[in-house]
Amino acid sequence: MPHILGDKVYLREYLLSDVETLYQWRTLDEIVWWTGSYVWPESLEQARAFVEAQVNNVDPANRKFAICRREDDKYLGHIGYEYLDLRRQNTEVGIVIGDVTSLSKGLGEESLRLFLKVCFEELNLHRVGLRVIRPNKRGYRCYSKCGFKEEGALRDWHYSRGQWHDLILMGILRDEYMADAKA
Ligand SMILES: CC(C)(COP(=O)(O)OP(=O)(O)OC[C@H]1O[C@@H](n2cnc3c(N)ncnc32)[C@H](O)[C@@H]1OP(=O)(O)O)[C@@H](O)C(=O)NCCC(=O)NCCS
Repeated sequence: MPHILGDKVYLREYLLSDVETLYQWRTLDEIVWWTGSYVWPESLEQARAFVEAQVNNVDPANRKFAICRREDDKYLGHIGYEYLDLRRQNTEVGIVIGDVTSLSKGLGEESLRLFLKVCFEELNLHRVGLRVIRPNKRGYRCYSKCGFKEEGALRDWHYSRGQWHDLILMGILRDEYMADAKA
C-alpha cells in the first residue's frame, strides 16, 4: 500500500523493525492508561506477535497502520480499524500516539483526518465510530475537532486507578464528514 500523506505525518504499513518502539510505548502507563485497554503489562514477544500479524495482514478487519512523522520518518504510534464491517459499511477506529513528546501537537487530528478520508472517500463507509474513556479529555477534544459526536456512554465500564470510568461512544456519519470536507 502506498503511504497516505499528510502535512506533518503519513500512514504506512507496519514493518518488523517497529517492534522495539511499539513495545516501548505499549508499556508506558502514561500512554496505555488513556486507552482503557490493558490490564497486564505487555511482553516483547506479544509486541512482536502484534507487529507480525499486521505485516502479514492476518486480520484485515482489525488492521492497524503506523503513524510516522514526515520530517524524520519517526514511527510515532498507530491508527486503524477496530472492526471493519464492509457489509454494513462501518468501522470503529483505534488511535494511539505513543511517542510522549508528540502528544497534543495536532498529529492525532491530522492522522485521524487522513484515516477518515480513506474510510469515506476510498472505502465508501457510512459510519465511523470510536470509544474513549471519560477521563480522556485530550482524546475527546481531538475526536470532536475531527467531527465525531458523542452518542452515549457505557456507565462504569472500566475500573482503574481506584475508580470506575464510563466509556463514551462517539461517531461520525458520511454526510457529516462530507459537509465538513466541503466547508
Ligand atoms: C488521543 C490522541 C490520539 C490525540 O492525539 P493528539 O495529537 O494528542 O491530539 P491533538 O493535538 O490533535 O488534539 C488534542 C486536543 O486536546 C487538547 N487537550 C490536551 N490535553 C487536554 C486536557 N487535559 N483537557 C482538555 N483538552 C486537552 C489539546 O489542546 C488539543 O486541542 P486544541 O487543538 O483545541 O488545542 C493522543 O493524545 C494519544 O494517543 N494519547 C494517548 C493514548 C490515547 O489516549 N489513545 C486514544 C484512546 S481512545
